[in-house]
Amino acid sequence: MQVVILESPQAVAEYGAHIFIRRLQKQPRSVLGLATGSTPVALYQTLIEANQAQAVSFQQVTTYNLDEYLGLDGDHPQSYRHFMNEQLFNHIDIDKNNTFVPPGSASNPVSACDEYEQMIEQSGGIDIQLLGIGRNGHIGFNEPSSGLRSRTRVKTLTQATIDDNARFFAADEFQPHLSITMGIGTILDSAQVVLLATGSSKADAVFATVEGPMSASCPASALQMHQNAVIVIDEEAAAKLE
Ligand code: F6R
Repeated sequence: MQVVILESPQAVAEYGAHIFIRRLQKQPRSVLGLATGSTPVALYQTLIEANQAQAVSFQQVTTYNLDEYLGLDGDHPQSYRHFMNEQLFNHIDIDKNNTFVPPGSASNPVSACDEYEQMIEQSGGIDIQLLGIGRNGHIGFNEPSSGLRSRTRVKTLTQATIDDNARFFAADEFQPHLSITMGIGTILDSAQVVLLATGSSKADAVFATVEGPMSASCPASALQMHQNAVIVIDEEAAAKLE
């Protein structure tokens, strides 16, 4: 696991974005794994600017998102599908038919999870997977105690994650407690993993990921097993590293 420490969240976003840009310049037909949340927004903005400056094209790209709330349709403003359209897909030259987010409104979520795994496999696997990290060390919605070899499945959110994400929902709005998430095993199958973390609230999780034992109590620590994982963090997120 490689650790890159940079001075600001903006530098983290640009460093991360350039990993994707370089890959797409070399291999325009790539399969990207994408994340939602606050952390990747500035990275997506850098990708949008590069696309608009014609430095990179997404015309041949396929994407798979990590996770989605179970019970939210893709049109719902808090759905991760909506987030991806707003933050990235609406602003780049990607064919939206080649962008996939786990189906939060699937009538049979269990078989939808198996289908999602099959689709990733049929696309040839994920070339680069982007990750954020929860304060509790989760990746995707793989909360602490998730199996390190887990695959895409329905997962209950912890109260900590529900509380962290409550900021995106109105006080009287339905907030899902279940999700569909790629598993840790699914993530580890990606050829390359790029995890971004910024801010002091992530310092404990970053410490447990990089210097803690590999353990289901910090799902991101499973990246210690990955041959090509890079953790890109700012100085605040790095504060607890030795
Ligand atoms: C989102 C996801 C989550 C977030 C994590 C950090 O698709 O999979 O694991 O990456 O909760 O969220 P932010 O970036 O909002 O701190």
